[in-house]
Amino acid sequence: MNKYFVTSALPYANGDIHIGHLVEYIQTDIWVRLKKLLGNEVVYVCADDAHGTPVMLKAESEKTTPEELIAKMQKRHKEDFDSFYIEFDNYYTTHSQENEDLSSTIFERLKKSDLIEKKIIEQFFDEEKQMFLPDRYIVGTCPRCGALDQYGDSCEKCGATYSPTDLGMPRSALSGNIPIRKKTDHYFFKLSSKKCFDFLNEWTHGRDTLQEEARNKIREWLKKDEEGYSLLADWDISRDAPYFGFKIPGTKDKYFYVWLDAPIGYYASLMNWCSLKKKDVDEYIGKEAKVELIHFIGKDILYFHALFWPAMLHFSGFRTPTSLYAHGFLTINGKKMSKSRGTFITARAYLKKNIEAEFLRYYYASKLNGSMEDLDMNMSEFVQKVNGDLVGKFINIQSRCSGFLLRHFDGEILSQKEIVAINPIEAKLEEEIEQASEQIKEAYNLRNTSRAVKEIMRMVDQINNYIQEKKPWETAKNIENIPKTEVLVLHSVLSLALRCFGKISILLKPVIPITCNKIERDFFCCEIPFSWQDISNLRIKKIRNIGHLIKRINEDDVKNLIKVGE
Ligand code: MSP
Ligand code: ZN
Repeated sequence: MNKYFVTSALPYANGDIHIGHLVEYIQTDIWVRLKKLLGNEVVYVCADDAHGTPVMLKAESEKTTPEELIAKMQKRHKEDFDSFYIEFDNYYTTHSQENEDLSSTIFERLKKSDLIEKKIIEQFFDEEKQMFLPDRYIVGTCPRCGALDQYGDSCEKCGATYSPTDLGMPRSALSGNIPIRKKTDHYFFKLSSKKCFDFLNEWTHGRDTLQEEARNKIREWLKKDEEGYSLLADWDISRDAPYFGFKIPGTKDKYFYVWLDAPIGYYASLMNWCSLKKKDVDEYIGKEAKVELIHFIGKDILYFHALFWPAMLHFSGFRTPTSLYAHGFLTINGKKMSKSRGTFITARAYLKKNIEAEFLRYYYASKLNGSMEDLDMNMSEFVQKVNGDLVGKFINIQSRCSGFLLRHFDGEILSQKEIVAINPIEAKLEEEIEQASEQIKEAYNLRNTSRAVKEIMRMVDQINNYIQEKKPWETAKNIENIPKTEVLVLHSVLSLALRCFGKISILLKPVIPITCNKIERDFFCCEIPFSWQDISNLRIKKIRNIGHLIKRINEDDVKNLIKVGE
């Protein structure tokens, strides 16, 4: 048995959860459920990422306070996660006392390690709003291609990246005024220092820390110039007031940049959980912690998690992550999610169409392979996978067999021993599932859920073929007129198929936990939830009539998910 501390990235508090986000939370949740099903001790935490300029401005535009806005959003996010069965052990907020204390501690320790430096920089300032403008709040002409109205960090037309001072005709996106340049003091984390470079070089080349593709990316970042100096830039960790965040200790009007306290929010959420559960927090985050720490993240935030975060932790005396598991981005019908194309689908909009949350879980599982490649949600493939695999194949086993077993055998299932005695060769089907479960477990472990699902469906096909071959409906039709031995054979065929169905439902439990709970509790009448070990020793005795477990998706509902012009 192993111990794990697992996180998903903290969603920003300024917007709703959409189905792009859900790729990550579903991927993490499947992995966590698998680990728990195998008997490991796992704590899975997350939180709302509550700070930053967008939250502050959004609160302003909604005529409320940031505190009220983030409380409302945290509740909404938690509701969305609950409805997709994302089972956090703790869901917190970065705007917490634990996080403020820990952020200050880390900052002070980094200062002591000589890794914090104050520098004067020049930034755009909006005189009307009386605030310094983050890159995203400055618009102007792209210095490369001349496109109008581009943001201060990159051009949407040609993809160039630059700094806002490079823009032609810069304007404030808030007031429309021409911003002035103004000097200000900022705090920097000395990422360019030799000791940071050396540490990161070692950390990123550790055995389990990164996927190969992520490591290659980081190799590009971790380069030195001809004189041997690190090419990593120091990291600006402060922002001027007005800002919604934590005040930097010892300053009057400087705040920690949201990306400083956001990852610390992982630890703060864990600390909050530890105090609720009376656990020793050092066992998880102390320098000598043995618990494995796994961060699930999107490829867009690799830089923060692979460079700043481990360096901050290491030089402030905390444990560093065991592994970063990065995934790619969701596209819809081959294109980036976009409001104008109507493909910006929130978790709520999806559920409003009465499409089961578990369908999205199954679909993502069937697409994710543990790499950083993007994955495409193709609406017709979505319908076909759910209706074809889940309803047409998996549930099909149950619907083809349970009626006969209930009608002719009182719902009683023969034991594996009894089945073996009747037909030892056919009974091997159960053992095959047992054998396949090893590879399926391995695939889940590697987050290669598409391989796991494929393998599961291969077993499901075999069970269906078996039923097709045995045609229990024909024997059942004549049940009054056939010899007792044949009745016994029919009982055995139905029992075997349903036992296999039970085993498959254990294999699918990390992906569609609610349906599988219904199967074990309501259909197989088992009070104690199945565990992975039950695949080799399934103790089921009877079934109950429970009607339809899963209904097919209606294609029109899926089509209506994409709403142009909303
Ligand atoms: N707040 C930061 C993370 C801080 S972690 C210390 C953030 N928030 S986010 O809301 O923009 O994204 C949360 C997670 O969802 C990120 O890992 C991000 O990569 C992921 N995704 C957001 N949009 C996505 C897609 N379209 N597709 C797949 N994942 C996506 O970043
Ligand atoms: Zn451009």
